[in-house]
Amino acid sequence: MKASNLTELIRYRRTVAPKNYTEENPDHDLVAECIDLARNAPNHHRTEPCRFYLLDEKRIREVGRLFGEQVRGSEPTPESIARGEKKTKEWGGAPGLLVVTQYTDRACTLVRNKPEVIKEDYATCCCIVQNLLLLLEEQGIATKWSTGPVWEHPEFRDVVGIPNSPPDEEVVALLFYGMSGSPKAVRELSGLEKTLVNYRAG
Ligand SMILES: Cc1cc2nc3c(=O)[nH]c(=O)nc-3n(C[C@H](O)[C@H](O)[C@H](O)COP(=O)(O)O)c2cc1C
Repeated sequence: MKASNLTELIRYRRTVAPKNYTEENPDHDLVAECIDLARNAPNHHRTEPCRFYLLDEKRIREVGRLFGEQVRGSEPTPESIARGEKKTKEWGGAPGLLVVTQYTDRACTLVRNKPEVIKEDYATCCCIVQNLLLLLEEQGIATKWSTGPVWEHPEFRDVVGIPNSPPDEEVVALLFYGMSGSPKAVRELSGLEKTLVNYRAG
């Protein structure tokens, strides 16, 4: 289905891995427009902490290579080599990859006075990412939010062009995206009574 209103988008958005994207190319300009809109999220102190790196094919291939190297490990086994090659192929061949980071300057006066801003900034980034997932879903573009720790690879920041060193700028999400024809199923969640204390229940 192509979800068309907010309720359906929230209900039917599903993570779709790059290996399940179709051959059709996503519209990367449209993705950039969605990023712009997604930034409209709650943001305490208006710090605008989110940074976005919309990678081209060359950089996606490089990120795939780095993750493959990581998965293969420093003492490769036949099994880890095979897994590394698989990841290089899957990640490196993804039609779209957006790296989302949080930039919070630890030395600024605000953060020195209120260290909780670091957590608040992360919350804002996560709100923005969810906005983005829904906006892309609305455009028929499927996504996968990954935290496969490729950013620990010493070459990652150079490849992506992240200017600020950690902890000031850290990766929040690797967002794979592409077209997906597969129908989306509603995910079964546990009963609401497990997580909602409802003093309004009649
Ligand atoms: C912070 C975060 C990190 C995630 N990292 C990964 C990941 O590294 N690998 C992966 O396969 N899925 C990852 N996911 C996707 C979840 O596995 C997925 O959201 C979950 O299985 C529920 O499926 P749904 O998104 O279709 O509802 C991540 C999701 C979030 C929010």
